[in-house]
Amino acid sequence: MPKVIIVSNRLPVKVSKDESGYQLSPSEGGLATGLGSIYKKDDNLWIGWPGLEVDNEDEQKQVSQQLQEISLCPVFLTQDEINRFYEGFSNEVLWPVFHYYASTYAHYHRANWEAYKRVNQKFCDMVLANAEPGDTIWVHDYQLLLLPDLIRKAMPDVAVGFFLHIPFPSHEMFRLIPWRKELLEGIIGADLIGFHTFDDVRHFLSAVTRILPVHASANILTCGERSIVIESFPMGIDDKKYDQLARSASVREESEHICETFKEQKLILSIDRLDYSKGILQRLQAFELLLETHPELHRKISLYMIVVPSRDQVPQYKELRDHIDRRVGNINARYRNIDWSPIQYFYQSFPIETLSALYSTADVCLVTPMRDGMNLVSKEYVASRVQNDGILILSEMAGASKELIDAIIVNPNNTHEVRDAIVTAINMPVEEQRRRMIQMRYNVSKFNIGHWVKIFMDRLNEAKQYQRSMQTR
Ligand code: G6P
Repeated sequence: MPKVIIVSNRLPVKVSKDESGYQLSPSEGGLATGLGSIYKKDDNLWIGWPGLEVDNEDEQKQVSQQLQEISLCPVFLTQDEINRFYEGFSNEVLWPVFHYYASTYAHYHRANWEAYKRVNQKFCDMVLANAEPGDTIWVHDYQLLLLPDLIRKAMPDVAVGFFLHIPFPSHEMFRLIPWRKELLEGIIGADLIGFHTFDDVRHFLSAVTRILPVHASANILTCGERSIVIESFPMGIDDKKYDQLARSASVREESEHICETFKEQKLILSIDRLDYSKGILQRLQAFELLLETHPELHRKISLYMIVVPSRDQVPQYKELRDHIDRRVGNINARYRNIDWSPIQYFYQSFPIETLSALYSTADVCLVTPMRDGMNLVSKEYVASRVQNDGILILSEMAGASKELIDAIIVNPNNTHEVRDAIVTAINMPVEEQRRRMIQMRYNVSKFNIGHWVKIFMDRLNEAKQYQRSMQTR
């Protein structure tokens, strides 16, 4: 029976080592949940990096066996590959350029590009060791842009889908990358290429038709004998999980505790992975402007800011962390008093139950990335609002703003607009909150992660069947 193989840089599990050996803890991420319905079935599997260096062959065997039991298959990376492929090329070329930070943060080193090619080939070898003709391979994200073409060339009779989880930039940005041609050739090895938004599709079509000898008609790309389908598939979340968590007794208890702590205050929540694209410093600037210009709100509001550690070996991330620490320290030092602190700042990750309690308690959720492929935090907040109240302030630069149009939509670069949005949010009548939230909850529940997986897989099957019928004509 044909298999489905999912491939992403990271496996949907956290692997850690202690004195009794390697421990696995499943990831709570949306992608892991959504694709669980696929890779855990039949002989299907998920190929990816376990997220830590395991250089001893015996230990690699041990980890492989543990992972195999849960349908996962590891690609081990050496420390040099982690430095060059993951940090150097994926996160110091592709991430900044695709998020429009090329001039500030991109460093183009040929040795890192060579490592990127080698590691994509390593992933391909693992796919080929497991795949058979007729199988379906779904490749994810910017770390594996070369993989679709490597697979197709080695095994033309498999269906290859590719989905990009981050924005695809305008051609003017993308063309800056010295290896832009090779990257596009890699992506178009897929039969179906998916993005979060229509704008990403438009940018991709514009780049690919300018850089490669291909022709686009509507959303179909013709490349020699092949037709490739390019479409937007906005990713959703497991809305029911967040809804049920918010209604559970333990989360309600935790919410009551938070309410008690912040009684008399409006709670503004902000949750992000540490990343310059998330606009954390700009958000702090808007919050500081609010404190400066609205002294009547002192003691009446609190910003609860969670920053989840990420990519801490990449220099720009270390610097950003220091800046945030300083900024939060300055604001609190300037405005706090004996019984009130304007910002509660946490640099750590929290269990999903605590996040759920915060989502269900916060009066306002402030999501203001400078650029974001989708942004699932905004959808998690909405799914957790089982009383249909609460206000979402959302950056127009997040893919989610195309769907959650009942949020207060802001330009994150406009500090005054963000400040005013917070004032509007904390004064918004409950009826209006409900009107907006009901609409957003409907969207988040209808276009959830299950829907996303299904339409992508259905479309991939159709695209491959069409390819096959063209070849047998
Ligand atoms: C983004 C990317 C993912 C990545 C995640 C965490 O969501 O689209 O591909 O896995 O960030 O980043 P990390 O570098 O820790 O894998």
